[in-house]
Amino acid sequence: MAGSRGPGPVLAAMDRVEGSRRADPLIPPLRDAVHTMPAGVRDALHGTRLGHPAHPAMVQIPMGTWLSAALLDLLPGRRRAPDVLIAVGLAAAAPAALSGLADWAELRKPQMRVGLLHAASNTAAVAMYAASLSARLRGRRMVGRGWSYAGLVTVSVGGALGGHLAYRQAAGANHSDQVVAALGPGWHPLGALHDFPIGAPVTATVRDVPVLVLRETADVLRVLAEQCGHMGGPLAEGEIADGCVRCPWHGSTFRLTDGWNVTGPATAPQPTFETRIVDGRVEVRLPAGEKER
Ligand code: FES
Repeated sequence: MAGSRGPGPVLAAMDRVEGSRRADPLIPPLRDAVHTMPAGVRDALHGTRLGHPAHPAMVQIPMGTWLSAALLDLLPGRRRAPDVLIAVGLAAAAPAALSGLADWAELRKPQMRVGLLHAASNTAAVAMYAASLSARLRGRRMVGRGWSYAGLVTVSVGGALGGHLAYRQAAGANHSDQVVAALGPGWHPLGALHDFPIGAPVTATVRDVPVLVLRETADVLRVLAEQCGHMGGPLAEGEIADGCVRCPWHGSTFRLTDGWNVTGPATAPQPTFETRIVDGRVEVRLPAGEKER
């Protein structure tokens, strides 16, 4: 009967991982260790300048080289190419893991739990590929092939967990992009000018979209989507300084004039709005480039 089926075994297992507190004691020390990295390094690892997280792009090298090695290993004869591919994948795994770790440290607890399992699978896969390379270099090619196939299965499990994190749990997704689609083109009423005191951030709604409004001077207002693009944090509760707002949840800093993500972990700029004042009332609209969506 339609609607009588519950989640399948894979989804049910994922739900159990999200709710399991078994690995929770590992989270604070690991997160604190990540936070000892300089902010600029963490921003580079997040992909703050790219407009989207760097980690999914960085894992393409190990995944691609290891899959290619597995295919070459199926061909008859003795080849060195799979050994080289495995070594390249191992070298690329370290920066990919670091970028994933930087992202992980700014997630919510249920996401972190899945993230820990994702990292454990991938770490096990790296160990298997290291064992494979070692065996291959010692001439034990069959043993090397065995380890690399085990590594491929394990890294695929890690990849599936990463997919769950990204698509089911929305880790790394831009949480403010839907604002643009929800608002649509044209000018929209925001409120009476006197509702916005100079220098004090205020929340308002435009067609049910929450926005942060800062009236800088008598007739200059800055308006940004209120939900932080990183994980949906309330920007109106953030600190305003140097022409920017700092998210209270993980510290992403957005420029008030154009929403540019000056610092991460947010990797996408925050939607901003143009304003005009008509008969004492404020109206907003999306900037020209945003109207097409
Ligand atoms: S929600 Fe994470 S920085 Fe805003």
